[in-house]
Amino acid sequence: MCGILAGRRTRDLVDVVLSGLRALEYRGYDSAGVAVLTPGSELVDRRRSTGRLADLEFRLLADPLPPGAVLGIGHTRWATHGGISEGNAHPHCDCTGRVAVVHNGIVTNAAEIASLLVTRGHRLTSGVDSEVVAHLVKEELDLGWDLAAAVRITTRRLEGSWALAVLAAGHDSVVLTARNSPLVVGTGQEGNAAASDPVALVGTCEEVSFLDDDDLVELGEDVRWFDHHDLAVQRATTRLRWRPEQTGTGAHADRTAREIDEQADHAAELVRTWVPSVRSGRVWDQLALPVPERVRFLACGSSRHAAEVGARVLRRLAGTPCEVTVASEHDPADQVPGELTVAVSQSGETADVLRALDALPGPLLAVTNSPTSSLARRADAVFDLGVGPELGVAATKTFTAQVLAGVFLALSSAVARGRLPRSSTAELLDELSATPEALHRAGRLALHRADELAERLAPQPGFLFVARGAALPYAAEGALKLEELTYRWAQCHPAGEFKHGPLALVEPGTPVVVVEDGAAALDTIVHEVSARGADVLRVGWGEGCAFGVLDRPEPHAWGPLESIAALQHLARTLAARLGRDVDRPRNLAKSVTVV
Ligand code: F6R
Repeated sequence: MCGILAGRRTRDLVDVVLSGLRALEYRGYDSAGVAVLTPGSELVDRRRSTGRLADLEFRLLADPLPPGAVLGIGHTRWATHGGISEGNAHPHCDCTGRVAVVHNGIVTNAAEIASLLVTRGHRLTSGVDSEVVAHLVKEELDLGWDLAAAVRITTRRLEGSWALAVLAAGHDSVVLTARNSPLVVGTGQEGNAAASDPVALVGTCEEVSFLDDDDLVELGEDVRWFDHHDLAVQRATTRLRWRPEQTGTGAHADRTAREIDEQADHAAELVRTWVPSVRSGRVWDQLALPVPERVRFLACGSSRHAAEVGARVLRRLAGTPCEVTVASEHDPADQVPGELTVAVSQSGETADVLRALDALPGPLLAVTNSPTSSLARRADAVFDLGVGPELGVAATKTFTAQVLAGVFLALSSAVARGRLPRSSTAELLDELSATPEALHRAGRLALHRADELAERLAPQPGFLFVARGAALPYAAEGALKLEELTYRWAQCHPAGEFKHGPLALVEPGTPVVVVEDGAAALDTIVHEVSARGADVLRVGWGEGCAFGVLDRPEPHAWGPLESIAALQHLARTLAARLGRDVDRPRNLAKSVTVV
């Protein structure tokens, strides 16, 4: 969480820092700040504000930074240590205002260091772990070290995780270093920049390189790069694959609307790319991995719901034993020798996933939308979702792409293991190829109905979601989407479980969203909750559905994927109606880089 931007340019520096931060705002939006250095200046100039980046921009209009700055750092914060206040916003400075620091991660021994600093006469002004870094760096500069050395000596005293960008008066570069927190450096024709996510460099840099743990980079007119032994090193460069026009809202009201809308086109692209390899059972070959004998999916949140779909198909059609582990709950004792870990993470930066992998030394496949992420760089093979930047905090198009990736992997296993007769394969692939159009249709239909339903549902404090079998992961995902976007309670239960407890929650008007899967028998639960006055919203096939998104009564092996378009639209439309910030729900961040 939190976003870092650092830049070295001779013009438009503040604009570049702010536009980079705008792209990073999905990583945290409790507060924001920027600090710059003008040649010859004795002090760093800093502006900070609580709230969104727009609040900082407003602040900068009233109190602009001096012109002529060539070095700058900026930050968007998702509070971990210390409350949300201007004093706790980054950048943090030492007592003299000559050193400024932005930090992602957590310095776990900050309290200890802070006590020592106080005994040495420092006055710490925030409740934030990151502040100690600025004070330590200043001490080393006072001893005569240059900025790079001062940062290196400082990090030797730190425990925990960090991506750091440090600016100091009298020094002509920003110094960057990282451990267990991503940081990427980009070069462009008009200057160099660094960020916690390459998306922030789209439009200003052409090529990027990632820091390995304990690399140290001096970002000045040139970029000087050192490894953990302080030896000069060059890291591999990648061309930025995203275009500036992919990072806005386009013709939509918000990013989330755009991303829901785009998912059918991305599904079409995925189907075009992968179905031929599924047909020949060669998806695993293409990933240069053997067809696995046993699989452990590792994921969190929406990605875990997507993994549940892939696991079910893999179990049922390929006969491959597999389980889905909530990454934060991974117990090394559960590990089975010879299993392949499939880590599903759109960002590839989720700390719970990366931490769990430390205890899973076997082969690793990453299913991610970020093929340069920490996860991808650790993996033996990467299934690149390739659906473009997802900047709404709620996962939408990446969820759909993850589901399809899991289905491709599972069906390819089934074909490769000779578990499917040719005729069934052909039928399954026809169904799979029809998925993008079904998603398009479901999206159009859902959009048409969502306003009216949102109006009806707006006063309701809580929602129940119910499904069976293959529809369950979609219902769970619908409930998660509703909770995170609308801030209303939403629980999902298998139909048969209702009578064992959740039925007590149903009273006249309680919305019960029933996610159907063709054959799954849900009539009983519909009768039971209707008899108690529930407002039943069926998402399924045929007459009487709130969202009639399925175009046939028979189930697909991967369940009712189309229903997700309706569930996402319902959550987004209700959230917008309730006046929520749809793209940036409170308390959340997109890349969850702390455990
Ligand atoms: C919900 C959502 C989260 C993520 C979860 C894992 O809309 O986006 O639940 O799915 O934080 O993130 P990744 O996929 O980046 O590992």
